[in-house]
Amino acid sequence: MDKQQQQKIDAAKVALKYIVDDEIIGIGTGSTVNCFIDLLADHKHRIKAAVSSSVASTEKLEALGIDVIDLNDAADIPVYIDGADESNHQLELIKGGGAALSREKIIAAVADKFVCIADESKYVETLGEFPLPVEVLPMARSHVARELVKLGGDPVYRHGVLTDNGNVILDVHNMEITQAKLLESKINQIIGVVTNGLFASRKADHLILATDVGIKEF
Ligand code: 5RP
Repeated sequence: MDKQQQQKIDAAKVALKYIVDDEIIGIGTGSTVNCFIDLLADHKHRIKAAVSSSVASTEKLEALGIDVIDLNDAADIPVYIDGADESNHQLELIKGGGAALSREKIIAAVADKFVCIADESKYVETLGEFPLPVEVLPMARSHVARELVKLGGDPVYRHGVLTDNGNVILDVHNMEITQAKLLESKINQIIGVVTNGLFASRKADHLILATDVGIKEF
């Protein structure tokens, strides 16, 4: 197993302590979360059910015998566990590498606590080396791309990808993101944008980072 994969598992293991007994747990999307879902299988008796941010996570949860319920039926979600493509030191994130950003952002907004799990490659000084994903209604793709250029980015259409919501993704390259909240809000105001992968208004509450020298928690 390579070092990065081992770190994903290590971070996922530490996140088990955030499970709240007899409550609903929010589950994100991606390879790090998949490690957490595998571990959750042994703790499924402790939780009421899960709400899931993607078809892929739902399928994996259900295959392991974990009930998945609709977010509209979940009154309270004490904890949401998800990965990230980048986290800065304020725990503002870039997410959406797996195209699940909108559902992830909705569950993160509902949850009381957002626990992010990541390997050390995700921890950065400044957000933006990872291209910022933006989910867009298909008919607005070119319009949104032109507006993103005005904001200083280089949007690239993620060919062949449709989100679980039937939309497309523009990945915005070459943005050095120093004011994440402001940029998040500006991009969300472009007509045709569903949401963007900056999690700054609702950032992570905790980051479990697996590194060469062990787990660091922020
Ligand atoms: C999916 C996401 C993921 O959390 C992000 O892409 C990190 O994925 P991985 O754990 O596979 O590195 O935002 O939309």
